[in-house]
Order: sequence, then C-alpha cells, then structure tokens
Amino acid sequence: MKKLLLHPAAKPLVFVLCLLPFAWLVYGAFTNGLGANPAEYLIRATGDWTLRFICIVLVVTPLRTIANWPALARFRRMLGLFAYFYVVVHLLSYSGFDMGFDVGDIAHDIAKRPFILVGFLAFVLLTPLAATSFNRAIKAMGAKRWQLLHKLVYLIAGLGVLHFFWMRAGKHNFAEVAVYAAIIAVLLGWRVLQFLKKKGLQRTNNMRGQL
Ligand code: HEM
Repeated sequence: MKKLLLHPAAKPLVFVLCLLPFAWLVYGAFTNGLGANPAEYLIRATGDWTLRFICIVLVVTPLRTIANWPALARFRRMLGLFAYFYVVVHLLSYSGFDMGFDVGDIAHDIAKRPFILVGFLAFVLLTPLAATSFNRAIKAMGAKRWQLLHKLVYLIAGLGVLHFFWMRAGKHNFAEVAVYAAIIAVLLGWRVLQFLKKKGLQRTNNMRGQL
C-alpha cells in the first residue's frame, strides 16, 4: 500500500477520481439525465459532494495514523481543494438556477433563510483554508498559525451538517444527515482523544523531568 500511495500515477489518479462526480453531472446535464428538476438535482448533488469531500479530508489524518500510511498526507491538499471546488459549483448552481445571479436577491435570501445563511458561513470559512493551502502561504503564515487556521475545518463540517439538517427539518427526513453527523462526530472524537493522549504524555514527561 505504501508503494502504491507513493507511485507517481497515484496523484493524477486521485485527481481524476475526484473529478468523476462533476463529469457525471455535466454528462447528465447534457443528456437530460438529471431528472424532472435538473437545477435542484445539481444544487443538491454538489451540496452532497461538498460534504462528502469534507468528510474525506477529515478521514486522512486518522487513517494515516491508524494504518501507518504517512504518504496519505500528500493527497490532503488536493482533497481539500476539491471540497472547495464542489462548494463553488454548489454556490454557482444556487446563484444561477435559483436566483438568476441577482446579487440583491441572493443577499436577501441569505439573510431570510437561516439554512442558507449557515451554508454561506461555511463557504466563507472554507475560503481562507483553500486560499492558504499552497506552500508559499504555509511558509508566510508559519506552520503553527497555519495549523490553527486549518482546525476550522471541524467547525465548517459542523456548519455543513447543520445546513443539511435545517434543510431537511421541514421534511422530517434526517437519515442521511445522521450518517454525516455520526461520521464527523467519530472523527472529531478521535482528534480529541489524540489531543488528550498527547497532553497526558507531556504531563508524565514533565513529572519525570522534575524527579
Ligand atoms: C461548506 C458549505 C456547504 C455544504 C457542506 C453544503 C451542503 C449541502 C447539502 C448536503 C445539501 C443537501 C443535498 C441533498 O438534499 O441531498 C445542500 C443543499 C443546498 N444548499 Fe448547501 N452546502 C454548503 C454551502 C451552501 C451555500 C454557500 C449555499 C448558498 C448560498 C447553499 C445553498 C443550498 C441550497 C439552496 C440547497 C438546496 C435546498 C433545496 O433543494 O431545498 N449551500 N447543501
């Protein structure tokens, strides 16, 4: 597996895989394959893919640690940028199909519908993460500050689930929302455990140093 992850073709392959949902949607749009309401289908499918990519990004570190596959880290930036790509397509689909690209109408809708406001907030928070995912930005910010900023991804994931929950609340249809919430809760729980373990280790080392 380690060799596979480091293979020169691995990154281009992951890139193509990440583009497949988009290619499928474009194909569907041109072949009347998106059902009776293609606009709604596009908005919902790109929303789903945004949330899926956020979950995939969050899975990288635990999987890397548990399976001992450090090379997985080379895919994290690409996966994060794909989450941003899908949210931009999601936002553009909503702005174009639902709002006719009328900025006034969009601003009014964001202020009026709390579930849209929460989605928009998640998008706003995701923007600096995408903008600082390049080596030059990491260097300029310093690793510590960069890491701190990128912890926002958990808040973004929570807002994404809240956005989805709110949207489905009217229909009392929470099955899918619950799956995403459970995945994110487990991943966040793992992080908290790692943090506590690290703190515990530090404390024991400090005590040993004092003896
Ligand atoms: C990280 C940010 C976001 C995530 C994770 C996200 C995710 C989702 C998800 C999972 C859905 C439901 C899809 C389904 O029913 O299967 C959805 C629907 C939707 N989202 Fe987002 N979204 C985000 C940002 C936004 C933004 C910025 C806007 C617009 C300003 C927006 C507007 C909508 C709309 C209009 C719907 C469809 C509502 C409907 O069909 O009734 N979302 N989103």
